[in-house]
Amino acid sequence: MGMQERISEIHEAMVKELLGANSTQNLEDIRVRLLGKKGELTALLRGMGQLSPEERPKAGQMINEARAKLTEMLEKKAEEIKAKERAEALERETIDVTQPAQLPQIGAAHPINMVMDELIECFTGMGFEVLEGPEVELDHYNFELMNIPKNHPARDAQDTFYVDDNIVLRTHTSPMQARAMLTRKPPIRVICPGRVYRADEVDATHSPVFHQMEGLVIDKDVNMADLRGTLNAFAEKLYGKGITTRFRPSFFPFTEPSTEVDLTCSSCHGKGCRICKGTGWIEVLGGGMVNPKVLEMCGIDSSIYSGFAFGIGLERITMLRYGISDMRLLYEGDVRFLSQFRK
Ligand code: DAH
Repeated sequence: MGMQERISEIHEAMVKELLGANSTQNLEDIRVRLLGKKGELTALLRGMGQLSPEERPKAGQMINEARAKLTEMLEKKAEEIKAKERAEALERETIDVTQPAQLPQIGAAHPINMVMDELIECFTGMGFEVLEGPEVELDHYNFELMNIPKNHPARDAQDTFYVDDNIVLRTHTSPMQARAMLTRKPPIRVICPGRVYRADEVDATHSPVFHQMEGLVIDKDVNMADLRGTLNAFAEKLYGKGITTRFRPSFFPFTEPSTEVDLTCSSCHGKGCRICKGTGWIEVLGGGMVNPKVLEMCGIDSSIYSGFAFGIGLERITMLRYGISDMRLLYEGDVRFLSQFRK
C-alpha cells in the first residue's frame, strides 16, 4: 500500500472513531494515538526516511494536514462531550429542595446568663457600671473588710473552700464592694455579677457553685429610700407593672440596717399561689445601708458619704422565671434541657 493510501486510511479510521466517541475517556485514548509517540501518524512520520526524496515533502504535508484536521475535530468533540457530561451530571445530581433540611445544632445562652444579661441591662440603664472581680479571693476582702472577722459566727453560714489560710473561693460577690470603694472615688454605682462558692451539698436548692449580683451605691445623702426606689424600679423592669418590693428586717455584718427583700410573686401577682407558698411574696435578695465600719475600712469618710448595697441570688430568679424546680438542671449541661432556652 502506498504512503498516501495509508495516510487516508488512518485519517478515515480516526474520523470514524472520533464520531463514535462518547466519553472523555474515549477522547483521551484517541488523543494519545493521534499525537502521542506511539501513534500511527507519528510512526508514519518516523518512517518517512524510507521514502524517496521526491515523495517525502508531499507525504509530510499530508500527515501534518491529517493531524491538524483530526486535532481540530478532536477539540470540537471534546467540547461536545464536556457539555453532554455536564448536562448528565446536572440531571443526576439534582437536589430535592422539598426534603427537610438537616439543621446544624445551634447553641443557646444558658438561662442563668440570660437572666444575668437582663439584670445588667436593667441596672446599667439606671447608671450602674459593671465591675467583675476574682473568684479566688483574699480572706481579707471576702470576710474582714465585710466586717466578718475571724471567729465571727457569720463565717459559719458561709463556710467555703480555703486555698490557704488567707485565700478562699469567694462566698459572695460582696468583696467587690471593698474592691470598688478602694479603687474609685464617690459617687460610686456598680453592679458585680459572678460566681460564688460555698461548702454546700448539692440538692434541689443548693449548689457549691452559684451566682450572685452585688449592687453598691456610695454618694452623699444616700438612704434606705434610695435602695427601695432602685429595687422597685428593678422589680418592675424585670417582671412588669404591679411588681414591687417588701422589706423585712434582717442582719448582715456589712450593712446596718439590713433587710431581706421580697418581690411580689410574679406568677400570682401577689394573690398567693403554690410558688410563693400562698404568701404573695418571693424572697430574692438581701440589702441594706453599708455599715459605716465597712466604709471606713475601705477608705470612705462615713461622715460625708453613705451608701446602700444589695446582693441578688441569680439561681433563684432564674428558677422562678422559667419554672425550674431543681437547681441541678442548671449545672448538668443536658442539651435537652438547655436547648429549650434557644431564642
Ligand atoms: N452577701 C450576702 C449573701 O451572700 C448577700 C447580701 C446581703 C449582699 C446584703 C449585700 C447586702 O450587699 O447588703 O448572703
